[in-house]
Amino acid sequence: DEARAGGGSAFTFDEVEAGVDDKHHVAAGYDADVLLRWGDPLFADSPEFDPTKQSAQAQARQFGYNNDYVGYIPLEGSAEHGLLVVNHEYTNPHLMFPGIVTIVDGEAKQAPLSKEQVDVEMAAHGMTVVEIRKVDGKWQVVRDGKQNRRITSATEMVLTGPAAGHNRLKTNADPTGTKVLGTVNNCAGGMTPWGTVMSGEENFHGYFAGELPADHPEAASYKRYGIPDGAYEWANFYERFDVSKEPNEPNRFGWMVEIDPTDPNSVPKKRTALGRLKHEGAESAVAKDGRVVLYQGDDERFDYVYKFVTAGKFNAEDRAANMDLLDDGTLYVANFAEDGTLEWLPLVHGQGPLTAENGFASQADVLIGTRLAADRLGATKMDRPEDIQPNPTTGKVYVMLTNNTKRKADQIDAANPRAENAFGHIIEIAEDGGDFTATKGKWEILLKCGDPSVAEVGASFSTATTANGWFGMPDNCAVDAAGRLWVSTDGQGPKATDRTDGLWAVDTEGEARATSKLFFRVPIGAELCGPIFTTDDQTAFVAVQHPADGGEDWEPFGRPSYYEDLSTRWPDFKPDMPVRPSVVAITKQGGGKIAV
Ligand code: FEO
Ligand code: CA
Ligand code: CA
Ligand code: CA
Repeated sequence: DEARAGGGSAFTFDEVEAGVDDKHHVAAGYDADVLLRWGDPLFADSPEFDPTKQSAQAQARQFGYNNDYVGYIPLEGSAEHGLLVVNHEYTNPHLMFPGIVTIVDGEAKQAPLSKEQVDVEMAAHGMTVVEIRKVDGKWQVVRDGKQNRRITSATEMVLTGPAAGHNRLKTNADPTGTKVLGTVNNCAGGMTPWGTVMSGEENFHGYFAGELPADHPEAASYKRYGIPDGAYEWANFYERFDVSKEPNEPNRFGWMVEIDPTDPNSVPKKRTALGRLKHEGAESAVAKDGRVVLYQGDDERFDYVYKFVTAGKFNAEDRAANMDLLDDGTLYVANFAEDGTLEWLPLVHGQGPLTAENGFASQADVLIGTRLAADRLGATKMDRPEDIQPNPTTGKVYVMLTNNTKRKADQIDAANPRAENAFGHIIEIAEDGGDFTATKGKWEILLKCGDPSVAEVGASFSTATTANGWFGMPDNCAVDAAGRLWVSTDGQGPKATDRTDGLWAVDTEGEARATSKLFFRVPIGAELCGPIFTTDDQTAFVAVQHPADGGEDWEPFGRPSYYEDLSTRWPDFKPDMPVRPSVVAITKQGGGKIAV
């Protein structure tokens, strides 16, 4: 993992200059067109977006907030006509609702949300399915497309797999332990080989408030998952988010949700076999023997890398035969050994320490408390595992580790080699025999991120990487049809890096390995999510999340209120419009592949 001399990048586009301003920027010779904005109408009867007339009813018929994962499901195999499936991870009330932030003694204060505002938040969460079509080289939304759909925090879903129906999943509203209303904090995701979309419930702890009795049987588990957190105000109006009233409701979140975007009436399925964690996503590959492998990150400091291997095989001839593949298989957690080998440890009830004496009376207990089970197995505590992407072209797997400033010097290991890891790193896994189902493999660090010109940072980009080309905080990534890696980031900022987040093209093979180039960057305050390429590599869809948001890292810009002090008005740049998280379609001017 030493810095490599390297050749020049294999990517031929002219690099964007890194920096900070209120607009998005793409490499010369490309168009980056806003396709879908928060509030855009999806159906014939959807009202046009009016920030002063928000209602839950309107929001449930419009594109949701904070787009994260983006999936593209071709219709009849087309790379120019398909279904875009988008996660809406969370809401920023201070950027959504006019007038709720006031400055008191120089400090921004947010008023408590009304029930109507909470209902708008709940409707702005979840997912969107929307038909899109490329006409004369430009993507258009098909309003009222017959598969168009909003999924929200109120949409009925079912729990399936080994934990479904378990006592720990039963509530007053659902004595069966199988029916859940809604999904929350849908971060990254993945597409399955049979054309469904996986959506990860990530920071679900934030939606729960109230106090669990100290002697409650869930107390230890809830402590491990950080429940309740009380970041949202939903419990003020909905008892199911109050753990003192409905202590099992949090166990019904933290799952991977599978949706079939081709059928707007299909019931989304929370697949318990894939474990319960703060799911970033689940990107998949078909192994040589036909079984399907899904790689999953649990995004918290010192949490783990997982994979799930189906028991059954993918059937390319019969879509219906695959629809419940994800209910039966083996969940593994990764141990990254100091010698560069890797072992996948099975999370199976009755094996090793996963026994009734240790609190795991069944596979349901192992899955509901996946983190506690993985703790018992001694898995490697990582620096915030985000998107994990298998590359079917090379057989390698890329693990985005976004950062971990809390890792102390005496807590470093070979796979997490930096104390106070502010900029994150990327691990490359090679499974034994190039077999994604293997229980052993090798790993190495592809990149230690951060500014290579600052020696203390210890970054390992190739010397061919320019001052624009390095990045920190890798979060999402995509592999294009040609097998090349693209990384989007969460956490550049004036304080950390003097640049905004963006999309970088990263060489993984040959002389140019560990060379990175900046292709697209976002407006101030935003992070970049969801990169995905159409199968012809002629379009990249990216999701610009929370533009103008002022996190801790954004001083001197402060925490902006709705109409005052906004650092950008992207993408409308109108004084009566708030910022709007949006999906952007990137194409090459005159057509052709994004990168050759
Ligand atoms: Fe929602 Fe791990 O980023
Ligand atoms: Ca993410
Ligand atoms: Ca991805
Ligand atoms: Ca992130």
